[in-house]
Amino acid sequence: MTRRPYIVGNWKMHGTRAMLSEARAIDRAAQRHMKVEVALAPPYTLIHPIHREAEQIAVGAQDCHHAEGGAFTGDISAAMIADAGAKFVILGHSERRQGHGESDALVRAKAEAALAAGLRIIMCCGESAATRDSDKAVAFVKKQLKASLPPAEQMPAEIADKLTVAYEPIWAIGTGNAATTDDIAEMHSAIRALLVELFGEEQGSEVRILYGGSVKPDNAAAIFAVPDVGGALVGGASLTADSFMGIALAASEPFEN
Ligand code: 13P
Repeated sequence: MTRRPYIVGNWKMHGTRAMLSEARAIDRAAQRHMKVEVALAPPYTLIHPIHREAEQIAVGAQDCHHAEGGAFTGDISAAMIADAGAKFVILGHSERRQGHGESDALVRAKAEAALAAGLRIIMCCGESAATRDSDKAVAFVKKQLKASLPPAEQMPAEIADKLTVAYEPIWAIGTGNAATTDDIAEMHSAIRALLVELFGEEQGSEVRILYGGSVKPDNAAAIFAVPDVGGALVGGASLTADSFMGIALAASEPFEN
């Protein structure tokens, strides 16, 4: 991998303006870790204020609508979040798939809308505990990811720049039980093979694959040492600069060698 490790904080539905000081602290710390690409996906309401102040980190959104605009009360388009300063959007998070009934086809439509608006995308995939227990995790994730991604001919030329994949096993999110490094290695290698199949060796081998699910400063280094792990998508531990930058620090080490 030649790309910098990518450490993205997903604040989920946490954060009012009182959290701007934490974002500032993350931005300042990120300036000391230039070998790592640090980014934050706060709630929509904080995208613009963080973007306005940030000197180093990119700001993104946690979702967007698939249409350009129209009568969609309460929704936000890709162009709107880009206008607010977002550079990327997280799509297909399991909390959207499960809590909002988002299908693979809808996630794919959102991806097409986001790319058309010039945003980079972080495409999430991941299996439930039941799927893992029945030994179908790899097949499930490959199928979900393939159906959620636009086909190669609809992707921009610089696929590896525009697309990041995040593997987030549902049972590992917010539980304190991260996947084992063996499970992560197996899944990331399967995802890598799929990306190469879909987008060709040159682009597919460069797309970063993040791991997400109970990443903390104390397990991050072991996770980042796994082949084909290009960074992390971090929930709870991204809410304070201390713990989030502890993870970024761990990312700067294995990749420096
Ligand atoms: P946690 O880091 O809180 O487990 O959340 C992971 C996640 O869902 C990031 O998108």
